[in-house]
Amino acid sequence: MVALQTSRGSVFKDPRTLCPDYVPPKAPFREHELEKLRAVQMDSRDKPAEYRRVFITGRYGTGKTLLTKFYAATTRHDQQTLYVNCIDCRGKIPSLLHEIIRSLKPGFPRRGYSLYELRETLADTLRKRGGRILLIIDDLDILLHKSGLEGWKNLQDILKLEVFDSTLNLTVYTINHIDLLDRMDFLNQALIERDLFDLRGYSKTEVEAIIRFRASLAFREEALGQDFLTEVAEKTSSIGGNLAYAMELMLKAGELADLTKSDKLTLNHLYEAEKTVHPRFKGFLLEKLEKHEKILLLSTARTLKRKPYGEASLSEVEEEYRRLCRILGYKPRGHTTLFHKVKNLSLLGFITHKLSGLGYRGKTTLLGLPGIPPSLVESRVKESLKINP
Ligand SMILES: Nc1ncnc2c1ncn2[C@@H]1O[C@H](COP(=O)(O)OP(=O)(O)OP(=O)(O)O)[C@@H](O)[C@H]1O
Ligand SMILES: [Mg+2]
Repeated sequence: MVALQTSRGSVFKDPRTLCPDYVPPKAPFREHELEKLRAVQMDSRDKPAEYRRVFITGRYGTGKTLLTKFYAATTRHDQQTLYVNCIDCRGKIPSLLHEIIRSLKPGFPRRGYSLYELRETLADTLRKRGGRILLIIDDLDILLHKSGLEGWKNLQDILKLEVFDSTLNLTVYTINHIDLLDRMDFLNQALIERDLFDLRGYSKTEVEAIIRFRASLAFREEALGQDFLTEVAEKTSSIGGNLAYAMELMLKAGELADLTKSDKLTLNHLYEAEKTVHPRFKGFLLEKLEKHEKILLLSTARTLKRKPYGEASLSEVEEEYRRLCRILGYKPRGHTTLFHKVKNLSLLGFITHKLSGLGYRGKTTLLGLPGIPPSLVESRVKESLKINP
């Protein structure tokens, strides 16, 4: 939820500048990496036959996505950027192709095409369009987890389409765990090393400077206290510099300040906000889940609240899920569909799932939360589903 109350009476100047999709006017401390990206493209301009790819890796929230989007927004204007996020595609190649085609042809229907038809449509669209293309594939981990080596090979085959020869200039991938790729692309190890940009984490001073810069875009100057920003920076550095956490924390604190009609952000707003934000819980991603995925996640959190060891069997979670569906007036989904949704939630990092070992009769699937308190997940999902306490 993003507060849109931006007029007088709000601490915000523009809350949308704290959302993950927002591209700020500067990307401080990444000048070197931007320069390196520019150099790669300059290289390939001299030798158009040599299509280049780059892998950007680094810890969570260190600005991988920002770097790609900022580069695209500020680089040569004679090329079109095609941006696809593997999370949005749930790691599936056909959905990824759909997204690429839709960014070229916005009205293109979402469903109903085979992989072959999608490839042909893409080739045809690119052929008619001409021009140069910068392709960004964000969060490649999800694609590798979901579609494995076959998915990776399929993607490489698509990028070898004849029409890409004359249009595609550079593909930039972002990936959190580069070792995933090492296993897939073992034949091209040397090439991967050449093309790897390992983003260094920000220092404590840099984290603080970025937070101040982003806060100055989001909040009215009079609403900001020094101690508030110092504390946000302190908390962000203490968890390894995940700036996505800092942005969400500031957004929540601002919303709370507005709710309590305060004209200044205080430490108390921050402490309250902290109860609903967690570095491992991707609040913005929650909005991309389907209704039944959210109910299943809520059921997992509620079941786990009653469990002492942070694990619950899928059948216990399913029971809670059916109960919730009854209360909310929705028709529950069947076991197979739910199992599919469990895998999706796990792929997106909301839950963990594994097969039971010793101490359980037979094999059963055990669900958990990746180090996030169940009560936090419960309250965020309830808020998203608009369920009152
Ligand atoms: N140098 C910077 N200047 C300004 N804002 C930044 C900078 N680096 C990161 N941010 C902001 O911090 C947040 C997290 O960055 P981003 O989403 O790009 O990280 P990421 O590495 O892609 O994270 P993830 O691993 O979760 O995909 C975003 O809101 C981004 O705009
Ligand atoms: Mg990212």
